[in-house]
Amino acid sequence: MDQASALRELVRRENMAGNRQADARRQDEINRSIRVIAITSGKGGVGKTNIAVNLAYALSVMNRKVMIMDADMGLANVDIVLGLAPKYNLFHVLTGEKSLQDIIVRGPGGITILPASSGIEAMADLAKGYKLALLDELNALKERPNFMLVDTAAGIAGNVTYFNLAAKEIVVVTSPEATSMTDAYALMKILYQNYARKRFRLIVNMVKHQGEAMEVFKRLRHAMDRFLNIQIELLGYVLYDEKFKEVIKRQKALTELYPHSPASKCIYGIAEKVCGEIPERVENGSLVFFGETGVQHGHG
Ligand SMILES: Nc1ncnc2c1ncn2[C@@H]1O[C@H](COP(=O)(O)OP(=O)(O)OP(=O)(O)O)[C@@H](O)[C@H]1O
Ligand SMILES: [Mg+2]
Repeated sequence: MDQASALRELVRRENMAGNRQADARRQDEINRSIRVIAITSGKGGVGKTNIAVNLAYALSVMNRKVMIMDADMGLANVDIVLGLAPKYNLFHVLTGEKSLQDIIVRGPGGITILPASSGIEAMADLAKGYKLALLDELNALKERPNFMLVDTAAGIAGNVTYFNLAAKEIVVVTSPEATSMTDAYALMKILYQNYARKRFRLIVNMVKHQGEAMEVFKRLRHAMDRFLNIQIELLGYVLYDEKFKEVIKRQKALTELYPHSPASKCIYGIAEKVCGEIPERVENGSLVFFGETGVQHGHG
């Protein structure tokens, strides 16, 4: 519990420091060069981490520099999926023992990963000051990625919301399961009603065929349009793929090991789509200062 009190002390100091103007300038710079995409979901276990990892690899094949931030602070798993054993993680950055640069680990295809700490309770609901300090450190990175994929935890806990609001683009993952769709709707509703985020793109994962994905998309689109007057977009779908079982055991990316498997093809398709886009300058997403995005402190 020493760690927890050390964290609290840091938060207090961070909150007092803060130079907003300098932050804003650096923020502008960073926004120009990095596309920050949160990969999130209402319900857990719908495939966020696997999509983040495999999309990252696919993008790297297309010569993009990609960094994954494991923002699932409670239960780190990007490193587990890829069989990496990072010595340091975001916890050490937050306590000031290490810089962000020090904790970067390399994955397949040269993708870089910022590992989360696993099992430290204090990390699971970071206070504002920490997140500020953490994301601010991104400015100091030696090589800036083209893409930063933020693999969030599921749900609408304060921490998840923060990371979603920090990203300029929000990709919501859902499976065709009714509960997963309901939770996806609830997540988008909260991000809209409480934080004025309006642009959401959907990845429908674990579908049997394209038609099933379209059905899920249409139903969610209809609900979002009818009750919230928001038009969501379909970024893509990923087929259910038995090969995942094998690659998970081997701790490799599916898009690396089986680039022609059904799910891989879908993910390469999504990567191509993402690469071909000209990123919008999103109204109120920002990477660093959460304070300016209308975040309510302590929201859970
Ligand atoms: N398209 C797919 N086909 C088959 N299995 C899949 C597919 N996508 C994900 N899975 C499997 O589903 C499980 C959950 O995936 P994953 O850990 O990526 O979900 P998650 O949303 O990150 O979960 P959490 O909310 O716990 O972080 C994993 O065992 C993974 O291999
Ligand atoms: Mg995950």
